[in-house]
Amino acid sequence: MLSHTLLGRTPSIELIESIADVAIELRYPGAKLERYSANLKLALSAEPPPFGTPEYGDVYRHLSVEPRWMAVSLVTNAEREGDGSRRLWSLAACASDKRHRRLLKKHACDESRHARMYLALLQLSFPGSVSPEFAEELRQLSPGFALHQDLYPIPGSPYAKNPTIDDFLQMNIAEIRTMVHHTMQRPVLSRHCPPEHQDKITQLLDRLLEDELSHIAYTAVLVDELGAVVDGERLAELFVKRLRDFNLITNQELGGNVFDCSVACCAKRPTCRAKVSDSAGPVYQVMPPPMVSRER
Ligand SMILES: [Fe+2]
Ligand SMILES: [Fe+2]
Repeated sequence: MLSHTLLGRTPSIELIESIADVAIELRYPGAKLERYSANLKLALSAEPPPFGTPEYGDVYRHLSVEPRWMAVSLVTNAEREGDGSRRLWSLAACASDKRHRRLLKKHACDESRHARMYLALLQLSFPGSVSPEFAEELRQLSPGFALHQDLYPIPGSPYAKNPTIDDFLQMNIAEIRTMVHHTMQRPVLSRHCPPEHQDKITQLLDRLLEDELSHIAYTAVLVDELGAVVDGERLAELFVKRLRDFNLITNQELGGNVFDCSVACCAKRPTCRAKVSDSAGPVYQVMPPPMVSRER
């Protein structure tokens, strides 16, 4: 499988570029997104991301050997997926372009399902770690969106707006970082998981892998298309700015040994979500506090 050529690799700029290339090739075989690819390359060279360094992988490996840290990070992943799904649902509901609306709705449904998949990974990798009552509570992290449902903006959501190239670019960078996390998470989960559950977690992880690559691909296509009407210099500046923003957040998270902070963590730090956007904050964000707790 082409997607599996990304696994087992140390985080690097080359890995990030390969993630984007493989994602595009899988979903749009033969497509050449020259505008997107050239700007991504330039931004990676101007603002090399911490998640494209071997040290990032070293820190992750060091922390993730601890079962409790790993379990918390799965809960945080579920929380972020559910939160991202709600943002995407509002954005889809307000998208004036029918194609954008359809793609965003599918994306929102995928992330809603991913929230439950991360909880399944938690229960399979650490059997008995979560009581049935708490498991039921955790299931609420997923909004349970499905394609057959009608879209509606979530009341009060700052994402109830028509999406722009900036939104799609932020999603694209965040999804690439999610993929880097996936490549690091996969072997570690395998080590924590009891042998009888290995096949099941591999199936879940393969599904996550394909979905996340698909998210990278469609957002790359939209950035490439919408970028056609943006002045070349301004587009390059936007790529660099958004990558710099994500790098800043990633570095702050790393200072707290966190790889994807929780919604509650963001809420306590008013600058956290606003950091990567001048307006409502990113549609999709990155981060985690190593604590599984019901009181978060
Ligand atoms: Fe996801
Ligand atoms: Fe995604």
